[in-house]
Amino acid sequence: MASITSISQYQPLLKKPRFSPPKRLQTHFFSIPISPNPRVDSGFSVKTKSCSMTNKKMVVVSATTAAEKPKKRYPGEAKGFVEEMRFVAMKLHTRDQAKEGEKEPQGQPVAKWKPSIDGYLRFLVDSKLVYDTLERIVEKPAFPEYAEFRDTGLERSESLAKDLEWFKEQGHAIPEPSSPGVSYARYLEELSEKDPQAFLCHFYNIYFAHTAGGRMIGRKVAEMILDKKEMEFYKWDGDLSQLLQNVREKLNRVAETWTREEKNHCLEETEKSFKFSGDVLRLILS
Ligand code: HEM
Repeated sequence: MASITSISQYQPLLKKPRFSPPKRLQTHFFSIPISPNPRVDSGFSVKTKSCSMTNKKMVVVSATTAAEKPKKRYPGEAKGFVEEMRFVAMKLHTRDQAKEGEKEPQGQPVAKWKPSIDGYLRFLVDSKLVYDTLERIVEKPAFPEYAEFRDTGLERSESLAKDLEWFKEQGHAIPEPSSPGVSYARYLEELSEKDPQAFLCHFYNIYFAHTAGGRMIGRKVAEMILDKKEMEFYKWDGDLSQLLQNVREKLNRVAETWTREEKNHCLEETEKSFKFSGDVLRLILS
């Protein structure tokens, strides 16, 4: 029988590396709820966070022969772990942000935002700090697996530097990074040294969110306050969908070496990723 076990029993956050040797595909599937989970915190105030998904939503039953017990599968699992991460992320969107979103809308939809240049500049500065941090972490990886994620073509640090330079040339003063970016960068730095599964959850969400909702937001802001000037932040060298696919494949390969508990731990981090990124995003309206 499938065991029903809370992930929180398995491992405290930020404790020790969780990479494990490659395993054969598991022949049974647990039905594991993403449950309220006390978490250690590193300068960030989340102590207890629950993910809204229950085990009922987190598993589906796959087709089996009459002789076999039904196998429980996590949504997206058949396609690879990135699809599982995407599934969790999409549900954390509000309904007005994305079709697959399940959260109640909060505040104004992007189409009704009233951004300011100063707020957008604060957003770009804090985003640069976050990308600088991610890109430094993979350059000097605390875990060898991070090195896979160097030079993916998704890097944003240089393009943000160009955009900030452009604003400077237009006569705008570039602000210092503010609390949302500083807190997120510090958190990522600490996480990367201790908790590769959680770190790679942020890595995935930050880069992929920017190519989806982030791009849409950039377009709206440019229409509203920048005379449609297209920022470098939203331009990639080469075929973006291929770059994304390459990173998906690398993430899937790394995740193949994780236990189910490590994968669930990674999925659970998605909420924090939304919280931190949401705080940075809201600077646009500050
Ligand atoms: C106003 C805020 C946001 C809006 C409007 C937005 C909107 C969207 C949209 C329209 C998609 C594409 C859905 C599809 O493939 O059909 C998407 C995908 C995604 N978003 Fe967001 N999003 C927002 C914030 C965030 C945040 C804060 C995160 C996490 C840090 C996030 C993570 C993701 C991820 C991981 C994907 C999947 C990308 C992919 O599959 O390539 N989003 N978002």
